[in-house]
Amino acid sequence: MMRAVVGLWVLSAVICVGRGHHHADHHLGHGNDKTVQDTVVVVGANVVSLVHEANREFSFRLYRQLAAHADSQGKNIFFSPVSVSAALAALSVGAQGDTHSQLFIGLGFNSSLLTQTDVDRAFQMFLQRPNNTSQEDASEGTAVFVDDRFKPKPEFLQTLKQSYFADGFSVDFTKARESADSINKYVEEKTNGKIDKLVESLAPSTVMYLLSYIYYKGKWATPFDPELTKQDDFNVDDNTKVPAVMMNMKDHFHVHQDGELKTTVLQLAFNSSYSMLLMLPDFMATLENAICPHRVTRWLKATRPRKYDVYIPKFSIKTSYNLNDVLSQMGMTDMFGGRANLRGISEEQSLLVSDVVHKATLDVDEAGAEASAATGVLIGLTGVLNPVPVPVLKFNRPFMVIITERTTEKILFLGKIINPTI
Ligand SMILES: *[C@@H]1O[C@H](CO)[C@@H](O)[C@H](O)[C@H]1NC(C)=O
Ligand SMILES: *[C@@H]1O[C@H](CO)[C@@H](O)[C@H](O)[C@H]1NC(C)=O
Ligand SMILES: *[C@@H]1O[C@H](CO)[C@@H](O)[C@H](O)[C@H]1NC(C)=O
Ligand SMILES: *[C@@H]1O[C@H](CO)[C@@H](O)[C@H](O)[C@H]1NC(C)=O
Repeated sequence: MMRAVVGLWVLSAVICVGRGHHHADHHLGHGNDKTVQDTVVVVGANVVSLVHEANREFSFRLYRQLAAHADSQGKNIFFSPVSVSAALAALSVGAQGDTHSQLFIGLGFNSSLLTQTDVDRAFQMFLQRPNNTSQEDASEGTAVFVDDRFKPKPEFLQTLKQSYFADGFSVDFTKARESADSINKYVEEKTNGKIDKLVESLAPSTVMYLLSYIYYKGKWATPFDPELTKQDDFNVDDNTKVPAVMMNMKDHFHVHQDGELKTTVLQLAFNSSYSMLLMLPDFMATLENAICPHRVTRWLKATRPRKYDVYIPKFSIKTSYNLNDVLSQMGMTDMFGGRANLRGISEEQSLLVSDVVHKATLDVDEAGAEASAATGVLIGLTGVLNPVPVPVLKFNRPFMVIITERTTEKILFLGKIINPTI
């Protein structure tokens, strides 16, 4: 018997802040962080839902930018939109002027309706929620690593700590290898070992490293039978087949046919309030161009139980992105250059963002999901003949995937699996 632990894992987004020149002996003052008062901040439901909706919209805008990028061609896409928005929202705490407005517009926050404080409070709620649910299989958080000679404004650190629950660390960035190791070790621990090398190298000009992480692990409400898992083909495109391992289950599944997008949507529930949505389109581009929060909401409501013979690949993938280009294309340009205004972090030194990187992993197996989820496609190539024909739903060609929380419809992860074997 195969062990039945399935994992859908994490993502991390990172922002690397570098500086132009060097400053002398300051002591990093996490000591000046005032104790977080138990002032229960009542955040207007409206503010929270505005930020929540903006985050959902951002997911798909970011997806389309990533999918269109030259580096993504012929590759799977998988990332955590909520991790990217949490890291950028935390960065925007320290941004001012055009740099700040570009971050707000890029993230979809309407500055005539939302202030930075509203955004901070909304994230405070979002970040608390996963830890507060009974499931201990979801966690999210942020951290900030600060050079021991660099002294950010105490208000900046205070807001990161209070609203983004940032863990703070003082490091010596002149020891590049050591500080990279500290950051990597932290992320590795937070992601249960899944992401062990977020940082490849650190520029000597680094003074601060801000990061966010998310980790999720769920068991399918109904697990797959490993006995039925078989080798099969996955059709990468019309002319390319790759061997894949396909899990199989014949049961009642929540499926919806979106006629307009010519896409079959399968909702696989985890044994929790989370689900994986798998979208198998006739034409990937049609789906990719039209997918939006409103559609996902409709799908979640529209899936109906029906008997299907479902085949889903069993797979593990890792992705890695440098988001500089993509974020610049989304209008967040100034932060990467000489026009950067991060005076909310420090007035004395001119700071810029040198890199935004993102890595993600996704593992799908029999325990993790009931026929579903995952990325990879393996089809139990079985020409099983049934007395009553049961429609077959084979994720044996490129499909998209979302991991979402059903009540809030928060999009934890989003991606496209075009080849589960790479
Ligand atoms: C921002 O909100 C204002 C007030 O509701 C609205 O008029 C404006 O169109 C919004 N801007 C964007 C970009 O949605
Ligand atoms: C959530 O839990 C993780 C893991 O236990 C912890 O590191 C993180 O700080 C927590 N986040 C919040 C917002 O409490
Ligand atoms: C955490 O859970 C407790 C008990 O269910 C609830 O009263 C509190 O409002 C929750 N906090 C958040 C931020 O969801
Ligand atoms: C799902 O969760 C319930 C309650 O925690 C538990 O009794 C059940 O065994 C779980 N099922 C699976 C397949 O893990």
